[in-house]
Amino acid sequence: MGISLINIVYLVASVCFILGLKGLVSPRTAPRGNMIGAFGMLLAVVATLLDQHIVTFQLIIIGLVVGGAIGTYLALTVEMTAMPQMVAAFNGFGGGASALVAATALLAPGGLTNVPPTQLYVATAASGIIGAATFTGSMVAWAKLQGVLHWQPKSDVLQKTINATLFLAALALGALVVINPTGHWAYWLLVAVASVLGVTLTVPIGGADMPVVIALLNSYSGLAACATGFVLGNNVLIIAGSLVGASGLILTSIMCKAMNRSLAHVLFGTLGPTAETASADEVYGGKVKSASAEEAAMIFETARLVIIVPGYGMAVAQAQHSVRDLANLLHERGAEVQYAIHPVAGRMPGHMNVLLAEADVPYDQLFALEDINDSFPEADIALVIGANDVVNPSAREDTTSPIYGMPILDVDKAQTVMIIKRSLSPGFAGIPNPLFAAPNALMLYGDGKEMVRELTAALREQ
Ligand code: TAP
Repeated sequence: MGISLINIVYLVASVCFILGLKGLVSPRTAPRGNMIGAFGMLLAVVATLLDQHIVTFQLIIIGLVVGGAIGTYLALTVEMTAMPQMVAAFNGFGGGASALVAATALLAPGGLTNVPPTQLYVATAASGIIGAATFTGSMVAWAKLQGVLHWQPKSDVLQKTINATLFLAALALGALVVINPTGHWAYWLLVAVASVLGVTLTVPIGGADMPVVIALLNSYSGLAACATGFVLGNNVLIIAGSLVGASGLILTSIMCKAMNRSLAHVLFGTLGPTAETASADEVYGGKVKSASAEEAAMIFETARLVIIVPGYGMAVAQAQHSVRDLANLLHERGAEVQYAIHPVAGRMPGHMNVLLAEADVPYDQLFALEDINDSFPEADIALVIGANDVVNPSAREDTTSPIYGMPILDVDKAQTVMIIKRSLSPGFAGIPNPLFAAPNALMLYGDGKEMVRELTAALREQ
């Protein structure tokens, strides 16, 4: 294929990526957006395969078969609740792949392509730093989301000093790669330093701030791919990488706004429970009231406005269909039902919207935090299903709380608030929730799906 034809195909593919991203803005158009984006990627891959002959087709086919088999297995078996970890792993592998491809371009005699030397070396150093830090940072994020890593460093100052030193060392090694590209040791040392930097940057972040980190790592993986596009002189990789980098940054900024935090605070602030965080005994001691499904159903009997607040526990219990059945029943009995969606409820952006859409809950019953918070004082019942951090009043009232300042759903302002969860265990941020001990709160202990079904059955019998 001639170079002009290749570039025309790349241009069409890039337009598909942009239209695909545009489609993702609404759940209605998202499936079409996904298809358009995937079609663009197919065009880009086919054009690249026909254009570049750096790797033999045998190797490409082996890669396709092995990667395709692992990907298919993971896609078929991963739980919906484990999606964020999967996204973290994808980001990491994207970053790692970029660093390795850049290394290949540096190590190959005469380079892989004929891009100008300065462009090649600067882009290789950038790809090495961003790609390696993205890989290890994403692995740490994966381990935290998977619940296998809970460790957080104690000293904030030491942490910042280590990060700054590693960052400067990586930059210095990057300059060495550009000045002396034949000294390959500098590149590998750069990769090692950036890998440690990825770990030290991500390890201190935790609690409710993980969504921001995932969005940021996603952006980094795009920037690494973009840098690799410059290494290879591949226009479509530069465009696709920039789109991922830019959309990841936009998502990061949306997440920061949702958490009412600055990016600097997320990246360099201390998080998680501190010595000042009240213990569960102090918060709950003798103040928590619980009720059975039958008792709760009696309160529902006269309710006119019910606001349902889903959270991560609804995803774990896969309770969305049962929740829709309960809402339909309440509707039939003359109550108005609305759903309040917190931007970081669950474990990934739009998590609750996806689950409720899967259960055919009408979009017009779903309300964002800023649109529904004023309605809670008029609600007879706020029914919290597996949500915890996103309804924790400490974020509003307790200046010592690690989640202080994060906007929350004001469920405590409803006449009665019922919370369905299995125990008084904390949510993702690891801190107690004074809501459970509020005078108007009732705990309905049990698995999300089971309890909603019991509640629905009890309501039907009345
Ligand atoms: P969380 O605060 O994580 O609380 C979830 C609650 O669900 C837990 O307290 C748990 O209590 C309960 N639960 C678990 N399994 C359940 C089941 N089978 N049935 C009923 N309840 C169950 O959830 P949230 O309020 O949705 O807040 C989300 C948190 O995750 C925030 O801190 C957010 O920052 C963080 N986060 C969000 C994202 C994104 S992008 N959304 C990504 C990463 C992290 P029991 O064990 O007592 O049942």
